[in-house]
Amino acid sequence: MVTHASAQMTAGRLPLVVGNWKMNGTRVTSVELLAALRSAGPFDAEVSVCCPFPYLVDVALSLQGSGIAWGAQDCSQHEPGAYTGEVAASMLAEFGCRHVIVGHSERRTHHAESDTLVADKARQALAHGLTPIVCVGETRAERDAGSTEAVVKRQMSAVIHALGHCVSQIVVAYEPIWAIGTGLTATPQQAQALHAVLRAQLAAASTRAGEMRLLYGGSVNAANAAELFAQVDIDGALVGGASLKEADFSAICRAASHAALGSTGKSRT
Ligand code: PGA
Repeated sequence: MVTHASAQMTAGRLPLVVGNWKMNGTRVTSVELLAALRSAGPFDAEVSVCCPFPYLVDVALSLQGSGIAWGAQDCSQHEPGAYTGEVAASMLAEFGCRHVIVGHSERRTHHAESDTLVADKARQALAHGLTPIVCVGETRAERDAGSTEAVVKRQMSAVIHALGHCVSQIVVAYEPIWAIGTGLTATPQQAQALHAVLRAQLAAASTRAGEMRLLYGGSVNAANAAELFAQVDIDGALVGGASLKEADFSAICRAASHAALGSTGKSRT
């Protein structure tokens, strides 16, 4: 709910829950899902839905005036021009997008997106008034080899290098790749440890790191959300599979709302 949301903003970091629909649904099921989500709200946390590009108009029409934001799952690093198949950040802004996910592990893996490309996309999003949700995270093999911190810091440092102190305007999503869509979640303690590492890294680049939202992603569901949100440096979630089921996604949004209402003790800097 907007009034509560703004009040919480001043008290601390307002929790943010972002649905990442990936390449799922149809035009009809998308509109049905959003109608149900709209009736389940309003929420006291910030909620956003990142849909496939062709559904943006329907999503905007469905969510207008609901207090729920929307966004996309990728954008080009370029200004509009001869880039067949790409979608410019300026185009997403025309459709009222607030957020755009960049550097999701599925794009890093299936589309060979590099750390610098991801950083360029984040810069482009900011240039057009969108908030990039920058994803970072390690593979199972990297975790087993003990290189989780090094990998995640390397991914983050490319973004810090590209954005400088403006990095405070992004949202970061820590998503261990082995936890995405697998039903395996990092324990709240594992996730918190990485979030603390990231916040310390961001603090070296920006005095506003304490105000930044760091989301956890990877098999977040109605049962595990509250414990994750209770962690001091976890400010919400990027949700894949569970965002396709209204009851599950609403339950996660309500868990974030509870965290928001109790967040005066979490105005953590
Ligand atoms: P999941 O996906 O919630 O289905 O694990 C999260 C994501 O990929 O952002």
